[in-house]
Amino acid sequence: MKFDNILLEKRAGFAQITINRPKKLNALNKETILELHEAFKSLNDDQEVRAIILTGSGDKAFVAGADISEFADFSSEQGGELARKGQEILFNFVENMSKPVIAAINGYALGGGLELAMACHFRLASTNAKMGLPEVSLGVIPGYGGTQRLPLLVGKGRAMELIATASMIGADDAKAYGLVNHVTAPEELIAATEKIISRIMRNSPMAISAAIRAVNDVYREDKNGFETEITEFGNCFGTEEFIEGTTAFLEKRKANF
Ligand code: COA
Repeated sequence: MKFDNILLEKRAGFAQITINRPKKLNALNKETILELHEAFKSLNDDQEVRAIILTGSGDKAFVAGADISEFADFSSEQGGELARKGQEILFNFVENMSKPVIAAINGYALGGGLELAMACHFRLASTNAKMGLPEVSLGVIPGYGGTQRLPLLVGKGRAMELIATASMIGADDAKAYGLVNHVTAPEELIAATEKIISRIMRNSPMAISAAIRAVNDVYREDKNGFETEITEFGNCFGTEEFIEGTTAFLEKRKANF
């Protein structure tokens, strides 16, 4: 598939998706959301890809939010549908990917941009990153999961303050809040993310997928995460990767996954 709004690059064992509308600070319009869905779907099925970096093009923004020009005249029904469809095809889809998706936040991550970064499995930020959910300043609330994922990551009080004040925080505060795991200089952001990926790639992709499913069930009321863990743990036994991992340990060599 040809993409007009994103760049998809495959490297040795992993992929990078770059949202590429720098003149609009990579704002998420409908087409970009559809293209991201297609790209993530194809990478989810691609056995050669074991982790994904998501970033924004240019040096100013990861994503400055949903594209405000597209929904300014929406009705209540259209607004609800926009949020429902977006959550389903992109935000929840990313969260439930079978391999780690890592947000490399290289500038503004606002509204839908921060929501997209929060749907990723974890986040790094460059020192110039600015994060926030400014929707209430537009007379609306976050609609792509922001009211749910932000409190889980930073706690209810901090989330309430960030949302109600529509304010932005910088990378160091985001790290102190637990919103991002690491802060780097802008020119080192992708290399730092790749370094983490090289460590992920030493491990069993099958076990990582199972761990993602188990961790995600912490947050689902319709699932018991402990039960998921028991099932997923049991399912690992007897698989080729389990045999390779345990045999390699016993033979005092590195596992080859
Ligand atoms: N939707 C649509 N277009 C957006 C956008 C968004 N969320 N964010 C930025 N843009 C566009 C601007 O309209 C501008 O386009 P133009 O050059 O055609 O006028 C371009 O991107 C550059 O943005 P600009 O505002 O000129 O940059 P800035 O450096 O002065 O300010 C921001 C940067 C991020 C503070 C500012 O763009 C902003 O507040 N954006 C909206 C953030 C937001 O509310 N997001 C939540 C949406 S639900």
